[in-house]
Formats: sequence, structure tokens, C-alpha cells
Amino acid sequence: MNDKKFYITTPIYFPSAKLHIGHTYTTVAADVVARYKRLKGFDVMFLTGTDEHGQKIETIATDAGKTPKEYVDEIVDSIKKLWSVMNISYDRFIRTTDDYHIESVQKIFQELYNKNKIYKSVYSGKYCSPCESFWTKSQLKDGKCPDCGREVIDATEEAYFFKLSEYSDKLLELYKNNPEFIQPTSRMNEMINNFIKPGLEDLCVSRSSFKWGIPVPFDDNHVIYVWVDALTNYITALGYKNNKYNDFDKYWPCDVHLMAKEIVRFHTIIWPAMLMALDLPLPKKIFGHGWLLFDGDKMSKSKGNIIDPTILCEKYGVDSIRYYLLREIPFGSDNSFDNKALINRVNSDLANDLGNLVSRTISMIEKYFDGVLIKDHESGSFDDELKSVCLESKKIVEEYLENLQFSSALTQIFKIASRANKYIDETTPWVLAKSKENKNRLACVLYNLSESIRIISILLTPFLPDTSKKIQDQININNNIINWEDSEKWGLLDKDLKTGKKELLFPRIEVEK
Ligand code: MSP
Repeated sequence: MNDKKFYITTPIYFPSAKLHIGHTYTTVAADVVARYKRLKGFDVMFLTGTDEHGQKIETIATDAGKTPKEYVDEIVDSIKKLWSVMNISYDRFIRTTDDYHIESVQKIFQELYNKNKIYKSVYSGKYCSPCESFWTKSQLKDGKCPDCGREVIDATEEAYFFKLSEYSDKLLELYKNNPEFIQPTSRMNEMINNFIKPGLEDLCVSRSSFKWGIPVPFDDNHVIYVWVDALTNYITALGYKNNKYNDFDKYWPCDVHLMAKEIVRFHTIIWPAMLMALDLPLPKKIFGHGWLLFDGDKMSKSKGNIIDPTILCEKYGVDSIRYYLLREIPFGSDNSFDNKALINRVNSDLANDLGNLVSRTISMIEKYFDGVLIKDHESGSFDDELKSVCLESKKIVEEYLENLQFSSALTQIFKIASRANKYIDETTPWVLAKSKENKNRLACVLYNLSESIRIISILLTPFLPDTSKKIQDQININNNIINWEDSEKWGLLDKDLKTGKKELLFPRIEVEK
């Protein structure tokens, strides 16, 4: 049995609109980690899904002349299609309208009520309709919703409350004892100073003004409010309080919940408090990355400034988009989506540095040799330098990936490509090819280049799975040496290196004037 387990989640997405490149960002990042862990031999559970209840969906569906379920079914199909386009290797997809989830959420609500962690009262406060969030006065920013900046309205209704106010000290203790719990660390200070220190209030966990939600099991007038329904997906999807799955003991607690920064609050305050109330172990890490902006503003459907990932993929190729998202934007910071920067990355890193390295090497092997290269390492300074950049990279890339520093990990991998390109210039294989005496040296140079390419292709696999496979096919190692651990070994390719069919990895993007 494999005792190396890894559980990673994305947020579950609202199927209220078409997903944009900002949503895609979280999922691509999670996919890279999941693929990396699988390559390292972990038994991975990568969960994503959709958050389908709430007033907003009810309203949109009614406006569209559909039932909420008809409406979400269509959108969920399009979300699944998008993940397939983006090559997202999720293991499980949860919909909050799935019967097993509904069953579990009702049982969870009942348990919290039985334990006296939920009680009935009256809510009156500020409510942001688009975000479906209640806010206290002190949480408002300039009198408006602190998440989206829109107007809030006064709202009063009978509701059930979760005793969140009991958890301030426990949460502070949790953060203190687990400095890694909230990442990046700056977000932990934000939670403490902006939310916990001013005092946590009990949380409204039911609504009676709309119907599209999971009914409170003992009170037909109420549906369970979105955060209890949504956050619990991370455990119901493993079979907590249902018979659909039974991996809860295997995968829980979660290794990392990944999301953008504005929902960190829910995951680092409400979620741990709910788990504490249920006497369940807490997730190990919550990582809140930055936003993808457009012209300095958060991309969102309601602002009409979204970029459609499917169109980008059709235009530039899925691996180019995966690369751009994770290379250009340091994970954790906000960054504007920039088409010019995207084209630059594709042309300079992918087409030039990587694509040329592979195509030049394969062409030279085809041109100068019938197949057999020379494996024995000749020690010249060029060879040693190339080999050492290759062999030191795996550990460096691993360290970055463990800390979700995707951009730095890619920078390291591309250092190998740069060094290998420089090695071609230094060793000038086309000059070596002119004389028979240099044939051995030439065979050795081309072997070293092939090894560098093999190592790059392994390290790149989590990021650019299709491209890595294409590279491996060209140096003919598809069924051979593609274990992650083999990226720090030298000399694994056969001397008898039969090149595969040549394939252009990244055509240069010609920019129209
Ligand atoms: N349904 C809730 C999450 C519940 S998790 C238990 C939700 N859904 S969402 O569809 O609005 O957003 C899903 C994720 O995409 C969130 O992490 C959100 O922050 C992220 N992003 C939405 N717009 C984004 C950008 N412009 N940039 C980066 N991430 C963005 O919130």
C-alpha cells in the first residue's frame, strides 16, 4: 500500500457565468502540483467542482426561463470541457447538487445543531447580493462590500447561526502553532488584524428568502447558507457522512486548499472553526494566490473585462497558456494579464530557448549520425558545466514546487535550456562534423545535449504535459526513462539513440502590426 498520500483542492466554482482566465489560474496551478506529486509516487486526490446553490443562480436561471438545475447542468458541462481543454488532471469533480453531498451537508448541519454549535435567531445587518455575503459594519470598506466594492443593503431575517465567536482564541492558537497554515504569511496577519482581533461574530448559516439550496433538515423554511454547503465539499467528496465514497480516512486532512486571496477568510476562519466544531482534523495549508487583473482591475464577468481561456488556447496552444500563467506571475501577487507579455514568453522562452534547442539537437543527430552516439562522458569544462546545471536542477525545482513557487521552478528549468544552447555555441557541432577525427567528440556532444533535453522534459512534465511528451517522443524515451527521480541521473539514454518524428514544439507567434 502506498502511504505517500496527497490531497489538493481548488475552490468549487460558481456556475453563474463563463469561467475566465482568472479562474483557470488556480486550477492550472493545482494541476501542476497534482502532476508533480504523482510523478513523485504519491497517491494523489485532486478535487475540483462546482458550487451550485444560492440566490444568484436562482435569479439567473429564472431570468433565462430555466429551472436552476437545468441552468447549472449546462454550465457545469462547459466547465468540464474547459478543464479538458486546459489538460486539468482532476481525480474527482464534486457538484454541490449531487445527492451524496446534499445528504452529508444535512447530516453535518444536524450534528452542529445537536452539539449546540448552531442556534436560531434573527439576522439584521449588511448584505452584499452579488457576493451573497453578510458583513458587519466594521468589515465594510468605505461603507461598501469589502470583497467586490459594491453597495450593500440592510437585511433582516430569521436565521440559524453558527457560533463562530467561540473560536477566536482557538484560531489564533492554530495560526501560532502552525506558521505555515496560511500562505503567503502576509495573509495570516491580514486575517488576525482585520477579522479576528476586531472580534468574530456568529455566522449566519441559513437563508429563508430563496429556495435554491439544501434544506435545513429540521426546518423547511430555511436553506443552508452557501458557505456551509460550499466548504464542506472538501470532506463530503471523500465520503464524509455518505456512502458514495470512502476515502475520508485515507486523504483527510487536506494537504493544501488552493484559492485566490478574497476567499482566504472563509477558508482560514470559518472552515477551521467548523471542523473544530465537528471534532475533525484541520487542513495543513491554505494558499491564497493573487488576482489576475485586466488593466489594473480584477477580472470579473460583471465588470465585463474577462479573458476567455478557450479562445487563448485555440490561438496560442494550451501549454503556452499554462506556461505564461505560472511563469509570468509570481504566485501570491496580483498581476495584469498582458497579451504582449504572453507573446514574448512564447516566442522567447518556448519557441526560441526550448523549441530551438530540441529541434537543433534532433536535426544534428539525424544529419550527422545514423543513430549511435557516445555515452561516455568526456570531461571538458563545457561538458561539466552543462552536466552540473542539469543535475542540480531537480532538487532546486522540488524545493520551489513544494513552496508553490512556480515561476522560480520554471526559471530553473529554463536555465538548463539556456546552458544547453550555450553549449551548442561553445562546442560548434557543425565544425566538429567537418572532420572524421572529431566524430567521437561530436557524438559525445550530441549525447550530452540529448541528456539535457531528457532532463528538461521530465522536470517540465507537471507544467507542460503535452510538450514534454512530444519532446520525449522525439528522443525516443517515451516508454523508457521518464521517472521524476531520473531527472537527477546522467547517462540514462541509450547510445543507440533513434530519434523520433521531428515535430515543431512552438511556432513563433508573428505579431500583426
Ligand atoms: N464558490 C466560491 C468558492 C467556494 S470554495 C469552498 C467562489 N467561486 S468563484 O467561481 O467565484 O471563484 C472561484 C475561484 O476563482 C476563487 O478562488 C476566486 O478567488 C478565483 N478567481 C476569480 N476571479 C479571479 C481572478 N481575476 N484572478 C484570480 N483568481 C480569481 O468563490
